[in-house]
Amino acid sequence: LASADYEAEDATVSQGLVESNHTGYTGRGFVNYDNVAGSYVEWTVPSGASGPTDLTFRFANGTTANRAMDVTVNGTLVADDLAFPGTGAWTTWRTVTVRATVAAGAKIRATAVTANGGPNVDKLTV
Ligand code: GCU
Ligand code: CA
Repeated sequence: LASADYEAEDATVSQGLVESNHTGYTGRGFVNYDNVAGSYVEWTVPSGASGPTDLTFRFANGTTANRAMDVTVNGTLVADDLAFPGTGAWTTWRTVTVRATVAAGAKIRATAVTANGGPNVDKLTV
C-alpha cells in the first residue's frame, strides 16, 4: 500500500497551536506543542493494513533536550518515550519512525512525556 501524509495542522490538537513561523514545514504549518507534559496531536488515519506499518513523524526540535513522546494507536501504547532529539534548529526537520499495526480508521496519538512538551510536529506519514 502506498503511504500517505497526514498534516499535524489538520489533526486533533490538545494543548498546542498551529503555527508557521519556522520554515521548512509541509502543508500550512506545524503544531507547536504547549511546553507541558500531556500535550498531544491525534491523527485519524483512514487507510489501514493487516500487518505492521511504518509510522513516520516529521518534527523539529531547536533545543538540545530530547522531547520524548508516547505513541498510541487506539489508546494502546506502541512506542514508550519515543525520542525526538534536538535537530539543531527549529527550521531543521527530521523524521522518526516506529512500526505498528494500524487498522483503517485508527487514531494515532503522540503525547508529550516531559514538562518541555513535544517538539514542533509537521506531519505523520503512514
Ligand atoms: C520556541 C519556538 C517554538 C517552540 C518553542 C518550544 O518558542 O519558536 O516553535 O515550540 O520554542 O520550546 O517548544
Ligand atoms: Ca512548544
